[in-house]
Amino acid sequence: MKGIVLAGGLGTRMHPLTKVTNKHLLPVYDKPMIYYPIETLVNAGIEEILIVTGGNSAGDFLKLLGNGKAFGLKHLNYTYQEGEGGIAAALALAEYFADKDRIIVVLGDNIIEGNIRKAVQDFIKQESGAKIMLKEVSDPNRFGVPAFENGKIVRIDEKPEHPASSYAVIGVYMYDSNVFDVVKTLKPSVRGELEITDVNNHYIKEGIITYEILEGWWTDAGTFDSLKYATNRVAETGANKL
Ligand code: DAU
Repeated sequence: MKGIVLAGGLGTRMHPLTKVTNKHLLPVYDKPMIYYPIETLVNAGIEEILIVTGGNSAGDFLKLLGNGKAFGLKHLNYTYQEGEGGIAAALALAEYFADKDRIIVVLGDNIIEGNIRKAVQDFIKQESGAKIMLKEVSDPNRFGVPAFENGKIVRIDEKPEHPASSYAVIGVYMYDSNVFDVVKTLKPSVRGELEITDVNNHYIKEGIITYEILEGWWTDAGTFDSLKYATNRVAETGANKL
């Protein structure tokens, strides 16, 4: 299984912090933001990792991360997303790297307290399809939100005004090699992006998606408030605990 960290996009929500640098290079307590999703993958036993970056300061990722020695890796792969076509558009750039293998995708601004080792092992045993991870939150309207019927996810609504549950779909997604064909069928959403939620809804319709509830805290760090929250949580408890 191969890992992909999506750190593309332009980070416009965080101007002027991201006017000359990349959102994923901003500090979260004692490390640059991008360190956390890479650690999440490494702690789950993933050794082959691709970083999709974009926007400003793309060259600084290479300076900062090199071949991934700080994470115990021998090698890191990089690619560049032009513009801000959406999470699924950034994922499409990983097709060559994935080379028909299964993949796990982590959003570059997502940070977790614990680890996802068990979920990854469960997905390896799953015959095909996808696996997503959920976390109960107080502000589901900021995220992809699952709607349940008899304990099964029947759809995911992206940033719904009236959330169907109090869960967020966190930015950790596992897919079989079909995912790149699914992405090719997508049309841009109202915000003009190829949505990862549409990819997940495809797998829901096919009936081949599973989910797990994440233990420990989870946050994104892509708004001023969530960046502050992430910094405080990391300072208090640390992140990516084994
Ligand atoms: O954090 C979890 C949430 O992430 C999910 O619950 C939502 O379903 C999902 O759509 C996403 O929501 P956001 O609107 O918060 O995503 P955002 O546009 O902030 O992008 C998150 C990361 O994805 C970003 O840090 C880098 C990567 N990305 C994003 C875009 C738009 C790319 O690599 N390329 C892109 O074009």
